[in-house]
Amino acid sequence: MQLKYLDDTKKLSKKISKIIGDGDIIFLYGEIGVGKTTFVRFLINHLESKKGIENSDVLSPTFNIVYDYDIKNIKILHYDLYRLKNYKDISQLGMFETSKNYIKIVEWPELIKSKPNNRIDILFQYLKSTGSRKAKVIGYGKWKDYKFDEF
Ligand SMILES: Nc1ncnc2c1ncn2[C@@H]1O[C@H](COP(=O)(O)OP(=O)(O)OP(=O)(O)O)[C@@H](O)[C@H]1O
Ligand SMILES: [Mg+2]
Repeated sequence: MQLKYLDDTKKLSKKISKIIGDGDIIFLYGEIGVGKTTFVRFLINHLESKKGIENSDVLSPTFNIVYDYDIKNIKILHYDLYRLKNYKDISQLGMFETSKNYIKIVEWPELIKSKPNNRIDILFQYLKSTGSRKAKVIGYGKWKDYKFDEF
């Protein structure tokens, strides 16, 4: 789908926020500056607004690797693995062993070797020539037959 304006990313994040819950995992792919953190910011802010909580500044966890958000009964872990060098670094995060009570959203998931079976991949694309942005949503495991195209 086209993400021409910030509002398009907002709409996509809102739709995703409505279907995800505890234990769900979203991988965000795409080059630097394509709009991954922006998507996460809209998603978290939407959930906060829905719960009547003041919106957080959702910053990129590039240097901290992970930030967590407590939105009443919803807990979110937002990862950015860009700075990690190898798989060992990731296994030390224990990101898929920890509690199932979290929604996990991962920027730069390329280094993850054993991908979780149930996940939503969002592939972001930015075309410099036209300045257009696009996203493709693909479900795996329990999301396999989900009609993301009809969003
Ligand atoms: N749909 C959109 N329309 C217009 N601008 C956008 C859109 N999505 C994101 N942007 C803008 O692109 C810039 C970079 O976005 P963002 O930080 O989310 O990228 P990123 O993919 O997380 O980058 P990184 O790989 O460095 O983490 C921001 O200034 C943001 O406002
Ligand atoms: Mg980012």
